[in-house]
Amino acid sequence: MTTSQDLRADLAASTLHSSLVDPALESMNFLNEIASRYPDAISFASGRPCEQFFDVALIHSYIDAFCDYLATERGYSPAQVSRLLFQYGKTKGIIGELVAKYLEKDEDIHVDPEAIVVTVGYQEGIFAVVRALRADERDVLLAVSPSYVGLTGAAKLADMPVWPVSGGTEGIDLEDLAAQTRRARAAGLRPRACYVMADFANPSGVSMPVPLRHQLLEVAAREDLLLIEDNPYGTFHDGPHLPTLKALDTSRQVIYIGSFAKVGFPGARVGFTIADQVVSGADGKIGLFADYLSMIKSMVTVNTSAVSQAVIAGKLLRCEFSLARANVRETATYLANMRQLLAGLQARFPATADRAKQVTWNSPSGGFFAVVTLPFAADDELMEYSAREHGVLWTPMSHFYAGQGGTHQARLACSQLTSEEIETGLNRFAALVADRLG
Ligand SMILES: Cc1ncc(COP(=O)(O)O)c(C=O)c1O
Repeated sequence: MTTSQDLRADLAASTLHSSLVDPALESMNFLNEIASRYPDAISFASGRPCEQFFDVALIHSYIDAFCDYLATERGYSPAQVSRLLFQYGKTKGIIGELVAKYLEKDEDIHVDPEAIVVTVGYQEGIFAVVRALRADERDVLLAVSPSYVGLTGAAKLADMPVWPVSGGTEGIDLEDLAAQTRRARAAGLRPRACYVMADFANPSGVSMPVPLRHQLLEVAAREDLLLIEDNPYGTFHDGPHLPTLKALDTSRQVIYIGSFAKVGFPGARVGFTIADQVVSGADGKIGLFADYLSMIKSMVTVNTSAVSQAVIAGKLLRCEFSLARANVRETATYLANMRQLLAGLQARFPATADRAKQVTWNSPSGGFFAVVTLPFAADDELMEYSAREHGVLWTPMSHFYAGQGGTHQARLACSQLTSEEIETGLNRFAALVADRLG
């Protein structure tokens, strides 16, 4: 943000919405600002998708594929195809049926397309969900901590307080979930839902084992809690594909927020929300939660860009609805990078009996992120020093905690780096650690 002393202030930030002076919303700015100051630094901070498979020609061919499909499978005239792409469109989106087919094929999730809202990325979906669930000051959202800044920021914008639930070692501590739910209720509050990432969570990299997924659904049912499942990285796995919570959900307990940012590409800004919960209206009419989210969307973005939806739809058609198959090369790249990162940490930080020098890390079997625990504070100051003196960027884990937490941890992302960059970046990271340990 500009901080020039020469400018006369017209507005005081303290008079704007409270989220705008909240560190949760400043976090992204801070990291981007450091990255822009040290453009030659190797970045383990950015969780962007790899770029070697991007090809502008694909965008054209995906749009063509969607137009062909409309003409041949749906019987659209040329004028109808043009109208669909050029005009304002249905708020819920124009590709719900194709998204439903992808969910069936890749995720074994079976939903009525009417329960799907196509959104501007995950980010619009999570905003609409928390906005809808925040009816008054009694409503709170539980969220596994540490959690993604996109969730914390959206909750701030919607004035929804977030109550942290311990992630434990496996992705969620169920005892803490039950305890926090009861504590909130005892305080006269209404915990509306718990936000979770079952697969390769951002930032922790942790995935929930299958029995824990079943138990989580049981606890949620017992405590009468909705679950909000966020799953942008599940496709990039080693070994068997674990069922999502939504695939295991038999009682419409799970609101599922999907994103095509990583399995498609982020420039399209397309995501979707499955909201098949049945809502009884004030007038006695029954509707889907998706219809209510769509009402919010109609006042935020009107509809997701038809052109962007056409591109994603074309990609879905081209890969016969299996983005797992469409992403075979990307998945291989991400897994190779993760293996190299973990092996590189092992080579540079051998186990030591001296706890004051011990560096440890977790070992995700996929996704974009791993977490390193250091024998010293890994705060913003150290991150800036690391960029300036050692040419390597990473994310302090404290950014993902509402209060204290992650003070000695760094999140390392390896999705966008080449093999050489990972090696050089790790050498620089090891030099930073050696520097700090004296
Ligand atoms: C946890 C998490 N959820 C969702 C997304 C995707 O968000 P969007 O679709 O808004 O780009 C990301 C991307 O960084 C993420 O890390």
